[in-house]
Amino acid sequence: MKLLQAYLDIHSSCNYKCAYCYRSELETAGNRAGPMPLEVFEKLTPILKRMCWSVSLSCAGEPLLYSHLWDIMDVVNRELAGLDVTLVTNGFLLNERAQDILAESIVSKVSVSIDTVNPELYSRLCGCAPGALETVLRNVESFGSKLRRGTGWPKLFVTAIAMKSTMPHLADLARRCCGMGVDGIKIQWLVPWKASLESEVVAHDDATRAVLREVASILAAGRVYFEYPNAPAGEKIRSLVQGFRFYRNKPGYCLFSLAKVANVLLKTPCRLAGTHLNVYQDGTMHACASSNGPGVSFLTDDVDEQEKRMRKAIAFLRRGGSYPECSKCRFYQ
Ligand SMILES: C[S@@+](CC[C@H](N)C(=O)[O-])C[C@H]1O[C@@H](n2cnc3c(N)ncnc32)[C@H](O)[C@@H]1O
Ligand code: SF4
Repeated sequence: MKLLQAYLDIHSSCNYKCAYCYRSELETAGNRAGPMPLEVFEKLTPILKRMCWSVSLSCAGEPLLYSHLWDIMDVVNRELAGLDVTLVTNGFLLNERAQDILAESIVSKVSVSIDTVNPELYSRLCGCAPGALETVLRNVESFGSKLRRGTGWPKLFVTAIAMKSTMPHLADLARRCCGMGVDGIKIQWLVPWKASLESEVVAHDDATRAVLREVASILAAGRVYFEYPNAPAGEKIRSLVQGFRFYRNKPGYCLFSLAKVANVLLKTPCRLAGTHLNVYQDGTMHACASSNGPGVSFLTDDVDEQEKRMRKAIAFLRRGGSYPECSKCRFYQ
């Protein structure tokens, strides 16, 4: 049973400086910036194929900075077919060439992070040039129309973080997405991983629910799928059922969703317990998204031994185990 979703960065540097982004914390923690060496990626793919139902090619960096995108996507296409492979990007470098490579790949979902369509707010939040938003929107629009003429894969999503400053513009984002060939919008709540972000956290009150209802009705009229965390049970079931069509590896997605529900019911200390792998530029793998517990390197010769160690760590977390550092985790409890 492959319940694991792996997260790695094909490129762990970034061309933006988003005020809220947790990558600055990872950088401070000493993680290596830059592209994942092709030979490391090639060594990892057979292991990922054995252990995972899904692989995300971006975690805390900008994947489209990868200068030989075709080379790495060639490995993805050969080695990871059958898995759900996803890519999250800020969209600035989603130019014609990147669009063609992705449109012809086995990638099942490309998500472009756009928190707001207000140009000043966008450049302030993302620490980028004032014209950047227009470039991103143009890229998404042309990718959307390319995909509509193609096989129906990959699916094109927009991801937005709901923050106090972005909430007043969320309906405008929804309206804009309806005309861009986007398949779905996913809202995520801001994770206030540092104290200065607390003031941007949105309350789950009537005003927030009213904005979400307006966004939902705009997107329903435009036949664009909508998903947000902590939705009421009925909404959650609807989005789970409707969201099914955006996965290529449907059995994998079902088992993974059940494992996450089991974590909630069994009250495991970590909500991702036993479903998550983080892989770093040097090929080190952790069964924890905050890199607690043993780190295993697959660049050695004793791959079987390393895989055994990794599976043991996964089983430990799945049984409700935790590491001393888990009590300080701000992300997944
Ligand atoms: C770290 S980025 C990496 C991929 C790419 N550079 C991008 O921005 O889409 C992955 C996702 O994490 C989200 N993210 C970053 N910091 C966050 C935070 N503090 N709370 C919630 N989501 C966050 C981003 O908005 C983005 O959708
Ligand atoms: S573009 Fe993505 S990785 Fe880069 S700073 Fe923004 S959220 Fe972080």
